[in-house]
Amino acid sequence: MNNNLLMVAYIAASALFILSLGGLSNQETARRGNMFGITGMLIAFVATAIAGVHLNAYPLLGAVILPGAIIGAIVASRVAMTSMPELVAILHSFVGLAAVLVGFANFLSPESSLTGIEATIHQIEIYIGIFIGAVTFTGSIIAFGKLRGVIASKPLMLPARHFLNLGMLFAVLWLGYEFMGGSLLTGLQAVLGMTAIACVLGVHLVMAIGGADMPVVISMLNSYSGWAAAAAGFMLSNDLLIITGALVGSSGAILSYIMCRAMNRSFISVILGGFGAGTGKASQGSQPAGEVTPIQVEGAAELLENARSVVIVPGYGMAVAQAQYPISEITKRLRDRGVTVRFGIHPVAGRMPGHMNVLLAEANVPYDIVLEMDEINHDFPETDLVLVVGANDTINSSALEDPNSPIAGMPVMEVWKANTVIVMKRSMASGYAGVDNPVFYKENTRMLFGDARKNVDAILGHLSVQELAASR
Ligand code: TAP
Repeated sequence: MNNNLLMVAYIAASALFILSLGGLSNQETARRGNMFGITGMLIAFVATAIAGVHLNAYPLLGAVILPGAIIGAIVASRVAMTSMPELVAILHSFVGLAAVLVGFANFLSPESSLTGIEATIHQIEIYIGIFIGAVTFTGSIIAFGKLRGVIASKPLMLPARHFLNLGMLFAVLWLGYEFMGGSLLTGLQAVLGMTAIACVLGVHLVMAIGGADMPVVISMLNSYSGWAAAAAGFMLSNDLLIITGALVGSSGAILSYIMCRAMNRSFISVILGGFGAGTGKASQGSQPAGEVTPIQVEGAAELLENARSVVIVPGYGMAVAQAQYPISEITKRLRDRGVTVRFGIHPVAGRMPGHMNVLLAEANVPYDIVLEMDEINHDFPETDLVLVVGANDTINSSALEDPNSPIAGMPVMEVWKANTVIVMKRSMASGYAGVDNPVFYKENTRMLFGDARKNVDAILGHLSVQELAASR
């Protein structure tokens, strides 16, 4: 493929990636956005394979690509929606590892045509690329472990941890100086030393983050993986990789910032491994006291029938139970009877950004009744009934009422301000952040214990029986 044609292909792919990001910002255009992304990646892949790979290297390329594509397709098609963040985390680690390997390959077989300042810049690209890649690699593995539950989600608070991080950063800078000036051997020793330190730094930064802040970390690592890819693009002089990496890097950073704002967390604190987040010995907040008021399916169905306005607040439990389908059906029935039904979505409900929106769209809940937290929070005092389906941290009133709570200051869905709240969950267990929830003990709260799917199906059954009786 000649160079002009390659450039055209790269520009087309870049434009498609930008259109893809634009499409993904809205539920109604998300599918189209996804298609743009897939097409862009296909063009990028074919153009690079034709232009950049020697004919006799095709068997090797095939031998690497084919198993990778098959494994990727199988893993992606089998992964449960609730495990998606884990998959994303582990995929980020691959991007990081790839950047490290590309960096070492570039260092060990340098481009002989580069001299003077160009060669120096190339050396810097290699060093930075390997550094970001290594931090992303190990950080993402730890994030994967925390999300999967094989590593405790509690933050690891080593004594003088910020000095430790600072020390590692200085060591990286000093080794960088050695790397730039030295021979091939001293350069190799320096870059190996830096890689080891960067790997430890990645582990330490993510270990210091508590479970409740993991969504931001995942999105930050997404951003790092983008910058690692961009650095690899510089090393390989590949414009498309630079553009794609920059798109992923900056969109990940913007998403992290938005999530930090939504959770009232300091962006800088999360990037620096919980800097300023306290010692971790803070109290777990005062324990909520009192008795809970249980309710049965019949009572819940009756409350729904008699309400004029209902807000449904879904959370991670709805995803686990796959309760979105009967919830959608209940919504339809109630709306047919003239009840105002809306959904309230917290920005970090579930286990990934947009998790609840995807599930509700899957179950054909109309987009216009699915509202963001900020759009619905002020309506709770005028709401007859709130149905909480497997949400916990995102409706936890201690965030606003208890300054000692580990989630103090995080904006939450203020469901307790409604006339009545029904909370559907299986037990009194805490949510992802491990914090007790005083909402369960409030006077206007009714606890509907059991699997959300079973209970929602039963409520739907009751509504159907009532309708049948009324039609006779
Ligand atoms: P959570 O606080 O995680 O609570 C979910 C609740 O669902 C649990 O208390 C659980 O109680 C209940 N549950 C689980 N399976 C159920 C089932 N089959 N039927 C009925 N209930 C079930 O959920 P949330 O309110 O959505 O908050 C999300 C949390 O995850 C936040 O802390 C957030 O920071 C974190 N997080 C979010 C993301 C993103 S980006 N969204 C990523 C990682 C982490 P029982 O065990 O008693 O049933």
